Amino acid sequence: MADLSAERKRLGGGAPGCGPLIPPLSETARPLRQQVFDRVRAAGLIGEGDPVLQPLTGGVSCDVWKVDTLTGPIVVKRPLEQLRVAAEWHAPVERGTSEIRWLRRARGVDARMAPEVLAELPGHGFAMRFLPGCPVWKDELTAGRVDTGFAAAVGERIAAVHAASANSAADRDAFPNDAMFRALRVDPFLLHVARKDAELAPALEALADDLSARKIALVHGDVSPKNILVSADGPVFLDAECAVYGDPAFDLAFCVTHLLLKAVWLDDARMIAAAGATIAAYRGGVDWEEPGSVLARAGALTAGLLLARVEGKSPAPYLTDPDHKHIVREQARARIAAPVAIDALVTNWKRNFT
Ligand SMILES: Nc1ncnc2c1ncn2[C@@H]1O[C@H](COP(=O)(O)OP(=O)(O)O)[C@@H](O)[C@H]1O
Ligand SMILES: [Mg+2]
Repeated sequence: MADLSAERKRLGGGAPGCGPLIPPLSETARPLRQQVFDRVRAAGLIGEGDPVLQPLTGGVSCDVWKVDTLTGPIVVKRPLEQLRVAAEWHAPVERGTSEIRWLRRARGVDARMAPEVLAELPGHGFAMRFLPGCPVWKDELTAGRVDTGFAAAVGERIAAVHAASANSAADRDAFPNDAMFRALRVDPFLLHVARKDAELAPALEALADDLSARKIALVHGDVSPKNILVSADGPVFLDAECAVYGDPAFDLAFCVTHLLLKAVWLDDARMIAAAGATIAAYRGGVDWEEPGSVLARAGALTAGLLLARVEGKSPAPYLTDPDHKHIVREQARARIAAPVAIDALVTNWKRNFT
């Protein structure tokens, strides 16, 4: 696995989902390529010969490759044991299997919202269909293309999975990933900050306990714009390695956090409008509990996640300007101390302090 990442580095990576295909690898690299192809070939997805392989960049936790086959491009993904983040951060490779299960379950709810899984591969890897011509939503937002209708569809589709899986013993049994969710989400995002901030520690610890205790619906766990493809059929969700049966408020909070950070980073009010659209559409799909309850929990979680993105183990890579960090930190700390529902948090969010 480390070998594959070294190989990707040597090749200079590649833009996600686009850019020129990588030329045939050198003889020294051949065993690495062989490893991937043997797995894909054994699954019956490619014939003999050397298909073209393109590393897809974008993630810190997996090797992701685009492979051209006679029946069209596919993606081969397999989890890494050591995440590529500054702080040392190990994660069990079983999360690859969680992702496969989430993708299949989501397609059962709405086939347009996740890529088709074509095969499970050894090492908790899998092959899925490559979606051509679908930019990552983060790139669209960063380029200034902010489509509120699309943001609403994101909220609608996340809510659809939550509604379909709410109070389902089968889904609960299929995603027994509490330890993984704790290691990848609760600890690095909420408790890591609590350990550094004595004043807010009781509130953050209470938030972490509440999040861990609720078993309500199937949570994706990484609903970030970088894990959403913009397709002609609406949002397509990728990267469900953190899927868990837990509190649906987390997905809404996680996604809205990213939009609010981008509102500050790009000083763009349309990101706040997009967050509002996501929340309104999500709210319309909440049929498993009082919508106000889930929005209240999401508000508290958003505040915690916002602070985590400036102080935590996985800071937003683009939020480097000290002024931007200050704007996020001040508002997040105030809302952790005095939580409000996520719709109110978004309405009052300031993208600058001028
Ligand atoms: N099925 C797919 N179709 C098109 N592009 C994909 C597909 N799967 C992954 N990608 C591209 O690869 C990138 C990384 O994939 P992702 O599943 O998010 O892995 P990671 O865990 O490394 O972030 C995505 O941001 C996207 O650009
Ligand atoms: Mg990703």
